[in-house]
Amino acid sequence: MSNSDQPAGQAVPVITIDGPSGSGKGTISQALAERLGWHHLDSGALYRLLAFAALQQSLDLADEAALVALAARLSKCYRLPTAGEPVICLDGVDVSDALRTESCANAASRIAAMPRVREALLDWQRCYRQLPGLIADGRDMGTVVFPDATLKLFLTARPDVRAERRYKQLIKKGIEADLAVLVREVESRDKRDSARKASPLKPAKDALIIDNSDLDEADTLRQVLEAAHALL
Ligand code: C5P
Repeated sequence: MSNSDQPAGQAVPVITIDGPSGSGKGTISQALAERLGWHHLDSGALYRLLAFAALQQSLDLADEAALVALAARLSKCYRLPTAGEPVICLDGVDVSDALRTESCANAASRIAAMPRVREALLDWQRCYRQLPGLIADGRDMGTVVFPDATLKLFLTARPDVRAERRYKQLIKKGIEADLAVLVREVESRDKRDSARKASPLKPAKDALIIDNSDLDEADTLRQVLEAAHALL
């Protein structure tokens, strides 16, 4: 997959949806991609996959050069799942659930603070820009990866609300969870993601910010669709 496969002169529209964990950007991005019939890039899954593969190979998570080399290898063989093939496989093994654990999220957040790791993931992420369009969700989609996006959204919610959403997700999956621990983890991940020098988590200057602390999924999607339809 490469942008050079696109017909000359045809711009591929992108809608970026950035925000902290638990802001609902994953669910909303997927729903929006389905409504518009566009591709979806879950950039966090790439960071999680890299962290997971590094842990599996007992790499030192502080070894930036080794992580960059691993990212180059993974980007050649790995594609995000599609609607028809919804699982994430690594070397033929379904790792979808393993990638969603808190330990994997924390490892992803650690390696995501390294500038060369972020750079190594740039082209890989941009490969997903394919016609008829792309919904890209992450932390720096509107600020760094797709600065020329057609529409930039930033979803957010209060940390306690986001931790509670995560708590409910885990319990629903039968995974034990402690709400107080989750609140602390959400806050420390937010802090690390927002304070890092390389592509910190922040809304793009031209982003529309939606705080959905008191909105349900349907209301959030409605606001996002309104914004999308006004521009497309
Ligand atoms: O979005 P998700 O929770 O799956 O992302 C896991 C971690 O990957 C985040 O905490 C963040 O540190 C990192 N990430 C990032 N930039 C992105 C997507 C994810 O730094 N575009």
